Amino acid sequence: MSCYFPLGTMLWVLCILQFMLHMAGGCAIEERIALMRIRSLLVEANSEVPASWGLSDDCCSWERVRCNNSTRVSGLNLDSVYVYQTCVRDPCWNLNLTIFSSFHELQQLDLSWNSALLQNFDGLEGLTKLRYLNLSGNSLVENNILESLGPNLFGTQRHLQFLDLSNNFSGSLPNWMFTNEAPLLYLGLAHNSLVGSLDHLMWQQQSNLQKINISMNYFTGQLPMDISSVFPNLTVLDPSYNNISGH
Ligand SMILES: *[C@@H]1O[C@H](CO)[C@@H](O)[C@H](O)[C@H]1NC(C)=O
Ligand SMILES: *[C@@H]1O[C@H](CO)[C@@H](O)[C@H](O)[C@H]1NC(C)=O
Ligand SMILES: *[C@@H]1O[C@H](CO)[C@@H](O)[C@H](O)[C@H]1NC(C)=O
Ligand SMILES: *[C@@H]1O[C@H](CO)[C@@H](O)[C@H](O)[C@H]1NC(C)=O
Ligand SMILES: *[C@@H]1O[C@H](CO)[C@@H](O)[C@H](O)[C@H]1NC(C)=O
Ligand SMILES: *[C@@H]1O[C@H](CO)[C@@H](O)[C@H](O)[C@H]1NC(C)=O
Ligand SMILES: *[C@@H]1O[C@H](CO)[C@@H](O)[C@H](O)[C@H]1NC(C)=O
Ligand SMILES: *[C@@H]1O[C@H](CO)[C@@H](O)[C@H](O)[C@H]1NC(C)=O
Repeated sequence: MSCYFPLGTMLWVLCILQFMLHMAGGCAIEERIALMRIRSLLVEANSEVPASWGLSDDCCSWERVRCNNSTRVSGLNLDSVYVYQTCVRDPCWNLNLTIFSSFHELQQLDLSWNSALLQNFDGLEGLTKLRYLNLSGNSLVENNILESLGPNLFGTQRHLQFLDLSNNFSGSLPNWMFTNEAPLLYLGLAHNSLVGSLDHLMWQQQSNLQKINISMNYFTGQLPMDISSVFPNLTVLDPSYNNISGH
């Protein structure tokens, strides 16, 4: 876009209009800034970066970024985005989740398989439209991520349906997870170091959950006799590699 200042006020107005139209076609500025910040965090961690990020102003056209019909980012597919060249200390990528608070319309966030140390889970609190959250293949600073997730689910994140926290998380299953108000359809907790008994948790009727994977943890206790009365919509339950008994 070129603007010729000396040609008069009329052209100036046209120039500003053109500029505004140009902005309207792109993504929101605060979202572009947040994405460029993620890009520089990757650079600082000696990682490769998505090639198209920063090439144009319209971050809706960048790879791994999806926008809704207006100009806001609705999906970020950042799985395995951290591809390091050199990594001497583990974890090599520390990611403060507060960086995602700029994406007010975000519905899908996939951060899986980045071996990152995720900090500040509260940073996701403002994402009220979030439906899909995949943090598997990372670690979290908080000792019991599942406890701190509860207030989010019941507070602001009422739309969260797919939650995948497989790999490298620790703690025990909190009560909120199997209550009727939780909107979850899919719960992935495989390959963690989760402990505790399932006995008291699995007796409340929970009609939303369709798929639960708690494979490869240290859970103990009994599965309910009649699972389908507890989880009427359940199609898949994988309790393998635990210390659980029952049919
Ligand atoms: C897209 O984002 C706009 C602006 O934030 C919002 O008003 C609208 O509801 C969103 N549309 C969809 C389809 O999510
Ligand atoms: C965007 O608009 C098109 C055409 O109106 C519609 O088919 C599509 O479903 C919309 N996408 C979203 C994400 O709302
Ligand atoms: C994450 O970022 C926020 C905002 O910049 C800051 O207040 C917070 O202390 C940071 N948390 C960590 C663990 O670095
Ligand atoms: C999981 O933790 C182990 C040991 O702490 C570490 O070696 C491994 O890289 C971690 N895996 C991921 C995917 O973060
Ligand atoms: C989360 O990501 C992992 C690895 O990318 C994938 O295997 C898994 O299916 C994802 N979970 C969901 C619920 O989509
Ligand atoms: C549960 O997760 C484990 C580990 O990721 C995987 O091997 C297994 O196939 C999953 N089970 C189902 C039923 O998807
Ligand atoms: C359970 O599944 C049935 C049939 O697919 C569906 O009509 C119903 O809405 C589901 N219940 C809940 C609470 O999701
Ligand atoms: C499995 O549970 C049984 C019965 O509760 C207990 O005796 C046993 O020590 C447990 N095994 C492991 C490996 O935790």
